[in-house]
Amino acid sequence: MTAPPPDQRPEHAFRRPPGWALDYRDRRFCAGSGARTDRRERKALLALLHRAGAGDGPWLDVPCGAGRMSDLLPGPVVAVDFAEEMLRAIPSPRGPCIRATAFELPFCDAGFQGVLCHRLLHHVPRAADRVRILTELRRVSAGPVIVSFFHSVSLQHARRALARKLRGKRRSSRGGVTLNAFLRDLREAGLEFVAARPLLPFVSEQWLVLAKKSAVD
Ligand SMILES: C[S@@+](CC[C@H](N)C(=O)[O-])C[C@H]1O[C@@H](n2cnc3c(N)ncnc32)[C@H](O)[C@@H]1O
Repeated sequence: MTAPPPDQRPEHAFRRPPGWALDYRDRRFCAGSGARTDRRERKALLALLHRAGAGDGPWLDVPCGAGRMSDLLPGPVVAVDFAEEMLRAIPSPRGPCIRATAFELPFCDAGFQGVLCHRLLHHVPRAADRVRILTELRRVSAGPVIVSFFHSVSLQHARRALARKLRGKRRSSRGGVTLNAFLRDLREAGLEFVAARPLLPFVSEQWLVLAKKSAVD
């Protein structure tokens, strides 16, 4: 697939040094607070899959990264990521691994039983871009869409903002929004909120949300 035009690239956040994918796979979530986050994310995702009554696939995992969450999804899993290096780092793929952008997924409408979009949207600062991605997720899902975002009303968010200020940095590659703002993004994309799971309410930024296609298109 050809590279997407510049305005479709949230890759400002993803210009990473060589070896980043293996580091992400083998270190980021393997020890200490990373391992705790991994456990909480898995628990939240399992709860939402249960709530969704998630059938037997196929599911789409976009962005899949090194496939960390794919093993929790039911049935065959199509793994999509923008970074070739990440796709190569997937230890045991559960289906095809495809390089593509979440802004423009190379799949037909309603081709998946469900879609997971985990740890992408907090790297997408503009609401219009988040809505474009959510609209694309909705298009390819026949049912549930499970998506994560960073909640700005949280200790972690406040701590990060303070640390940035103290270091004199104005920009961050991670951005949070309020739950209301995120629900607005969902509505604009034609998705209806079903349930949410914060990893640690008011402490952690990370929330997982289960949505479904709105009844009225
Ligand atoms: C923080 S990782 C999350 C990976 C995985 N979902 C997880 O939770 O471990 C974010 C991933 O998004 C990918 N990415 C960034 N922009 C993307 C885009 N426009 N389309 C698809 N993948 C993208 C990056 O290559 C990276 O692998």
